[in-house]
Amino acid sequence: MLANDTFLRALKRAPTDYTPVWIMRQAGRYLPEYNETRARAGHFLALMKNPDYATEVTLQPLARFPLDAAILFSDILTVPDAMGLGLTFNAGSGPRFAHPVRDEADIARLKAPMIDPALRYVTDAIRQIRQALSDAKGVQRAPLIGFSGSPWTLACYMVEGGRCDDFRWIKSMLYARPDLVQRILDLNTRAVADYLNAQIDAGVHALMIFDTWGGVLAHRAFQRFSLAPIARVIARVRASRADAHIPIIVFTKGGGLWLEALAASGADALGVDWTVDLTAARQRIGKQLALQGNLDPAVLLAPPDIIRTEVRAALDAYGPHPGHIFNLGHGILPCTPPHHVAEMVEEVHTYSRALRQRTSESDPFYSA
Ligand code: CP3
Repeated sequence: MLANDTFLRALKRAPTDYTPVWIMRQAGRYLPEYNETRARAGHFLALMKNPDYATEVTLQPLARFPLDAAILFSDILTVPDAMGLGLTFNAGSGPRFAHPVRDEADIARLKAPMIDPALRYVTDAIRQIRQALSDAKGVQRAPLIGFSGSPWTLACYMVEGGRCDDFRWIKSMLYARPDLVQRILDLNTRAVADYLNAQIDAGVHALMIFDTWGGVLAHRAFQRFSLAPIARVIARVRASRADAHIPIIVFTKGGGLWLEALAASGADALGVDWTVDLTAARQRIGKQLALQGNLDPAVLLAPPDIIRTEVRAALDAYGPHPGHIFNLGHGILPCTPPHHVAEMVEEVHTYSRALRQRTSESDPFYSA
């Protein structure tokens, strides 16, 4: 039972009284309370791997803002970490793998992780967050989103060994030895599907697949190396958890050119970045899928009246139709003032409510 199911209704393209909103990286460094908890934990990995801390920070943004969903506090790199690649995070330079996957011998050694016990800290955190979100009668305040990286995006980190600008290792492997990249992707597809299934079993209400690096691929390579494995992950989850009907959001950063293809992946909703026009995107993907997005995170650095204008423009672009979930086009920037987030959330709720009322009075078609 959920006290607020607006987000889940929007994912099903059912009518809602207002447009639901949550924020990618909503528990993160722009919140002083997050930085405080991370300091207590010692570092990011210690924070993420401890279900008590993960629960605490997951709930922090919901205590501050009336958000319509919580997202599990974790990271996409948990999966390659569980494969034994030796993950560390250094302040400033981001994630690093001690043992990147560079050749055939490295690939031969790779194994899909046993979710239990290797990733039990994630499923334990999900169960604990569900408890913390519910009141004495077991009514949940808001739905909980689980997530994974896409097979391709995980492969980028596994092969490059960390953050990179040019993707030289994985792209040269992709063109010279596509069979090797395919082997990594096949393994990741299995690992990601198992991981998402375990998150469903632990109690998430929705899932999101982050395809952060899909947009760096050439047109043909995108279809084969990013999209096809995502579609296989979704098919596996659908086949093995058929009665759960957990909605899946696919977000390919820079994927605006491929919305029709992404819409055919089996996803229930597509996340879009700020390069996309929501009016055109809604028309292109048709009536089967919901859309999530897409304010430029940098808008939140502008003064409040500008933030409100930009929020209204995004809501107007989608229009009063069912199936919009408001979000940023990518993760919130660490330098964002928290009170700017409050302005954004408030404007999404009040303006989208007014937009629906206005249009249902003038045109009854929209209220359906
Ligand atoms: O959205 C949420 O609030 C849930 C938590 C979440 C985190 N990472 C926490 C995090 C989610 C969904 C992610 C996903 C993730 N992680 C992605 C895909 C989404 C995207 O942004 O494209 C990627 C590519 C990663 C890998 C990753 N994790 C990088 C490259 C970094 C370092 C770069 C950076 O932003 O500092 C991280 C660290 C990370 N993951 C932080 C947080 C809050 C910051 C770590 C810190 O506190 O120092």
